[in-house]
Amino acid sequence: MNFSTDASDRFLSNYLLKFIHKKGQEVVAEELKKVIIFDQLFFPQPWSTSGWQGIVETKNRYYLLQVEAAQKLIGIALFDMIEADNCAHLLKIAVDPQFRQRQIAAKILQEAFSFIGKTEQFLKIYLEVEEQNKVAIKLYQRAGFSAIHRLRNFYGQGKDGLAMIRFMKK
Ligand SMILES: CC(C)(COP(=O)(O)OP(=O)(O)OC[C@H]1O[C@@H](n2cnc3c(N)ncnc32)[C@H](O)[C@@H]1OP(=O)(O)O)[C@@H](O)C(=O)NCCC(=O)NCCS
Repeated sequence: MNFSTDASDRFLSNYLLKFIHKKGQEVVAEELKKVIIFDQLFFPQPWSTSGWQGIVETKNRYYLLQVEAAQKLIGIALFDMIEADNCAHLLKIAVDPQFRQRQIAAKILQEAFSFIGKTEQFLKIYLEVEEQNKVAIKLYQRAGFSAIHRLRNFYGQGKDGLAMIRFMKK
């Protein structure tokens, strides 16, 4: 799998990307506030503050990956780590529009795959995506996910979803 292009390599070399992994660790209030704002600005189906609060309170179950460039939050991904099923559920991934199409989401996924593969006995990653979100579907296909079924009206009346899965290479 090769996500890189010369142009995006040159762009990214101007930024030192910092990946912040949070699993079983406290997400401090200030940090959480930034993530909630990011979610509301850039994710198609954002959560309420209380939804996010529930996540951080069950901290052993969730894995939040944040990416910073020049100390600015530019991307997030959130996984629900379902140990009973050996499955990580990708709940959210988003990149600041100013930084899109520069392989940031691809790098977030690579970083997450390596973290999940190293630290947990997870065999697969599962996700749902709106069928009309062609950009996200392309990203997931490029990262090794395959569609497994269609979820009728999953995102509301007439808005179908796709369930996708990627098996971890062990
Ligand atoms: C989906 C999203 C995270 C992609 O982030 P990104 O950093 O721009 O993606 P990348 O640059 O890493 O692109 C990786 C691959 O995704 C696909 N892709 C990304 N942007 C694309 C676009 N505008 N058009 C077509 N394909 C695109 C391509 O296959 C690309 O690989 P390639 O450039 O080698 O062909 C970003 O568009 C986003 O935040 N969207 C809003 C939130 C969202 O919809 N999240 C998913 C919900 S399930």
